[in-house]
Amino acid sequence: MSNGNLHINFEKIPISIFASSEDASKSVAKEIADLIKLKQKEGKKAILGLATGSSPKKVYAELIRLHKQEGLSFKNVISFNLDEYYPMQPASPQSYHWFMKENLFDHVDIPKDSYFVPDGTIGMDTVKSYCAAYEKKINDLGGLDFQLLGIGRNGHIGFNEPGSHIDSLTRLITLDFTTRSDAGLDFGGLANVPRKAITLGIKKIMQAKRIVLIAWGEHKSPIIRQTVEGPVVEQIPASYLQGHPNAQIVMDESCAAGLSRRKTPWLFDSVEWDMPMIKKAVTNLALSLEKSVLMLTNEDYNENGLSELLARYGEAYDINIEVFNRIQHTITGWPGGKPNADDTHRPERANPARKRVLIFSPHPDDDIISMGGTFQRLVDQGHEVHVAYQTSGNIAVADDEALRFIEFVRDFNARFALHNEATDKMYFEANGFLEKKKKGEKDSEAVRAIKGLIRVSEAKNTCRFVGVPQENTHFLNMPFYETGMVQKKPLGEEDYTIVANVIREVKPHQIYAAGDLADPHGTHKVCLDAVIEALHRLKKEPFMKDCWTWLYKGAWAEWDIDLIEMAVPMSPDQVMRKRMGIFKHQSQKDGVVYQGTDAREFWQRAEDRNQATALLYNKLGLAEYAAMEAFVRLKI
Ligand code: F6R
Repeated sequence: MSNGNLHINFEKIPISIFASSEDASKSVAKEIADLIKLKQKEGKKAILGLATGSSPKKVYAELIRLHKQEGLSFKNVISFNLDEYYPMQPASPQSYHWFMKENLFDHVDIPKDSYFVPDGTIGMDTVKSYCAAYEKKINDLGGLDFQLLGIGRNGHIGFNEPGSHIDSLTRLITLDFTTRSDAGLDFGGLANVPRKAITLGIKKIMQAKRIVLIAWGEHKSPIIRQTVEGPVVEQIPASYLQGHPNAQIVMDESCAAGLSRRKTPWLFDSVEWDMPMIKKAVTNLALSLEKSVLMLTNEDYNENGLSELLARYGEAYDINIEVFNRIQHTITGWPGGKPNADDTHRPERANPARKRVLIFSPHPDDDIISMGGTFQRLVDQGHEVHVAYQTSGNIAVADDEALRFIEFVRDFNARFALHNEATDKMYFEANGFLEKKKKGEKDSEAVRAIKGLIRVSEAKNTCRFVGVPQENTHFLNMPFYETGMVQKKPLGEEDYTIVANVIREVKPHQIYAAGDLADPHGTHKVCLDAVIEALHRLKKEPFMKDCWTWLYKGAWAEWDIDLIEMAVPMSPDQVMRKRMGIFKHQSQKDGVVYQGTDAREFWQRAEDRNQATALLYNKLGLAEYAAMEAFVRLKI
């Protein structure tokens, strides 16, 4: 069977993909604004179904902008929110009431009696009638004209958790573990997240005349793929949207990365067979057939939608060799370049033999967790290695850990007769604050400073272990992070200046930065944005022409195998040494403050991931290593 141009359509819901969540949010906001204006012209109300969570924030920000700058009025809008935690007071900062006021209602001219969010304060005995009345209110207005949805990593829409029936009504639901752990960040830990919520039922959502589901970031990619390409199943409530006549999923590129049209584009359309595409096709073919690259045959190419590629090369043998060699050339034990060696096919330049290296670590432990083996090699191979810790990481330190250290300072002073009133005062203040601290409450400035210092000492300890002199450690304390809460400020001028200054100071030949796109609101992505902006600003500086930037991934994800441009192998001993380096971060061991759904310790995540990368190389037919760290070069 020859299927060079299969044009298979795997997608069962219309989708649109935007370069960024900003562009996508603007387009969704425009659709909502157009609907509001159309209804205004007709003298009618626009009945909107609204969602909360991180996804719609930029949509609401754009609607506010349209209101403030372009005169969009919300006077004819009536809105119904999807859900609310139960029990929940509307004045609580974690409530969806509060969220909606903060992110939309307080900034536009929607009348106070025109928006509805399920009430999390009603008594258990009235929930049923309350939910029926909520639906009736929507029905009486003629139903929802537009429903905005986010999606949970478990496929929930609203809080309709996996298992929700297609005809389910508005009701009280028990939240599942994934939902609660994802919400743990906002509540200062899983234990504080309510177990229940009121949610609009699937039936009412499906009755909306138009539905737009938005999803950003790599972490939503697997569930979006199942929603768009998989069967309709109760286990993925979002898949019900396949049966809606006017639903659409809007996503950004990093979320779309898991779709077949991105993973195997040659099955959709003709593609340009450049080397990255060839590598992608061949590695995909080998891994899906569970064969090594050099074992692929003409038949394998022909039978799997790659006859066009085969026709260009003539023989599988030629493609296989070419790709095999390219993958082989990504492997190096010399991440800083091998001195006096021919570097034509090596990932890094041989010269200068001793490089200045600047590792950006978003949190104080990402350097060792994500690239500990490479970090150690760079030091051992004589490069001048600097580490710039971008944020203080203070919110991830537990309260009792902070107390332990304050107590240590007080006892140390007492023991060596260094009695100091200021220390005593600080101890009593911090102790007093922590004793009375409410669940999820923001830390006092002193406690935050102490928590930050704990992480500084751990990072210094790792650097000592790896062999980086103290003067080469740079603690940037980027201001965007210092809110004391999970929610951070946007990057500001000061952040860019701090990052640009450390690059200018070190004048590195190599920069390493976390290229994590898993969570578009996450600290890693923001830290990367700051590095990229700083690199743009420094573009004209003479040292920049010799500066290469390598991106590593955070603790969870790894680069797709075909994208990897440098793979640094590790022996079993080197894996063990990296583990010891990670152990220096004691405050992040044995269950961290923001654990999420992944119960593994950071060293376990790192080892699992590095072993998995090595195994993939091995499956493709390359040598067997214990573990590998992978990098992609950033081209500005
Ligand atoms: C919120 C809601 C939820 C969220 C979903 C995704 O009103 O109904 O379904 O849309 O949990 O949340 P984020 O956008 O925070 O990833």
